[in-house]
Amino acid sequence: MKSVYFRDTQEEVSVHPQDRLLDALLSNDVDVMMLCGGHGLCATCHVYVTRNPHCLTPMTEQEKKTLSLMSSVQANSRLACQARVVGDDIELALPDELYVKSFSELESLIGKRTKAPILHPLNGDVLIPANKIITRSAMTALQDIDFNFSDIQVD
Ligand code: FES
Repeated sequence: MKSVYFRDTQEEVSVHPQDRLLDALLSNDVDVMMLCGGHGLCATCHVYVTRNPHCLTPMTEQEKKTLSLMSSVQANSRLACQARVVGDDIELALPDELYVKSFSELESLIGKRTKAPILHPLNGDVLIPANKIITRSAMTALQDIDFNFSDIQVD
C-alpha cells in the first residue's frame, strides 16, 4: 500500500499501487464534482502535489491540455483522475475553491459572502473571488457564461 497525505486536514489514506489520486480523494470523503466522469476533461479534480510528485505517473496529453486551460494552475498541479500512484508518501493540497455547474446554482448564492473563489468547472475561471458578497448585479455580468457541458467529448 502507498500513503497519500492531505496537507490541509493532516489526514492520510492508503491506496494500492496504480490507484488514481482520485481514489485517495474519494476514500478521504473529499467531495469531487467529477463533471467529466474522470476523463481529464474538466477542472473539478484539480489538486496540488506538495511532496513527491515523482511518485505519480507522468501527465497524459489530455491532462496537460486541460491544465493549460485553467487559470488556477501551478507547477505542481495535477488532475487527480489522471495521476496514478506509483510511489509512497505523496502529499496533496486541495485548491481552496468551489465549483458551480449552472447559472441557477450561482443565482442561489445571491446575498451570500463567498468563503472561497467560485470557479467554472470546466476551465477553472474565477467567476466570483473569495470574500465577496454575491450581488444580483454580479449575476448580470455573468449571465452569458456558457455552462453547456455538451462539448465534453468522452471517448
Ligand atoms: S474528473 Fe474531470 S478532469 Fe478529473
